[in-house]
Amino acid sequence: MSEPDSRPGRGAGAASSLPARTAVVGCGRMGSALLHAALRQGLDVLAGVREPRRRRPGVPPEVAQLTPGQAAAAAELVVLAVPPGEPLRQLAEQLEPVLAGKVVLELSNPAMPRRDMPAPRGPWGPSEAELLARRLPRARVAKALNTVSAKALGPLGPAARGEWPRPSVPVAVDDPAAQRLVCAWVEALGFEAVPAGPLTHARSLEHLAQLLRHIDAQSGRTGLVGCRILRP
Ligand SMILES: NC(=O)c1ccc[n+]([C@@H]2O[C@H](COP(=O)([O-])OP(=O)(O)OC[C@H]3O[C@@H](n4cnc5c(N)ncnc54)[C@H](OP(=O)(O)O)[C@@H]3O)[C@@H](O)[C@H]2O)c1
Repeated sequence: MSEPDSRPGRGAGAASSLPARTAVVGCGRMGSALLHAALRQGLDVLAGVREPRRRRPGVPPEVAQLTPGQAAAAAELVVLAVPPGEPLRQLAEQLEPVLAGKVVLELSNPAMPRRDMPAPRGPWGPSEAELLARRLPRARVAKALNTVSAKALGPLGPAARGEWPRPSVPVAVDDPAAQRLVCAWVEALGFEAVPAGPLTHARSLEHLAQLLRHIDAQSGRTGLVGCRILRP
């Protein structure tokens, strides 16, 4: 009889919810860090890039590079790791037919507010994740991982060396099955997934990331600030 899998996210409850395959669309700093983290944990991942014939430097060689549409079509969970605003809007428009019925993970952080910029979206307005959900009415959109830095998660970071305390990753999503799927994947990556209520709570998650970035800036810009949520 085989031993139960004790790796994070592979416990009895989580295993059945783990997506069979995940597509990461957009393979810049965050997308490629996620691909490396997923490979380290033996997860099945695909890369979705605009020019799949040109090998992107950050994409691990073991990962298949496809167009965003091909990668999304072949996956149960689709992570959109592109900048918020116009790029995310365009990508949603392009992928809407293929994302129907899928779970889509949105992880963007709107730019830090500056004096010369309009007030950020937040509790008083829709989050990027909610805007995405309006554009993808047939998909189940979740927000998570925006509180984690690519530097911490990537191949040269403390997560790869096993030196990072397992940070908490709040997951905001409306659909319970989508929440189980995203939580299982986040746990399998090595985080503590924390169900954080409906997608409207993505507003708070975007603010939390801004707070963490501010704390990081005060701490010498290490890119390694994260959060732990204590629960009884
Ligand atoms: N960096 C972090 O530490 C971090 C942490 C948490 C969350 N995030 C979030 O992760 C997202 C990506 O950030 P990043 O730092 O990885 O940015 P980045 O290094 O600039 O990478 C952005 C990627 O998006 C791709 N892209 C843009 N428009 C696209 C489209 N229409 N179709 C397909 N791909 C498209 C770009 O592809 P090309 O190379 O072809 O232009 C590029 O690879 C952002 O929403 C950010 O807020 C980042």
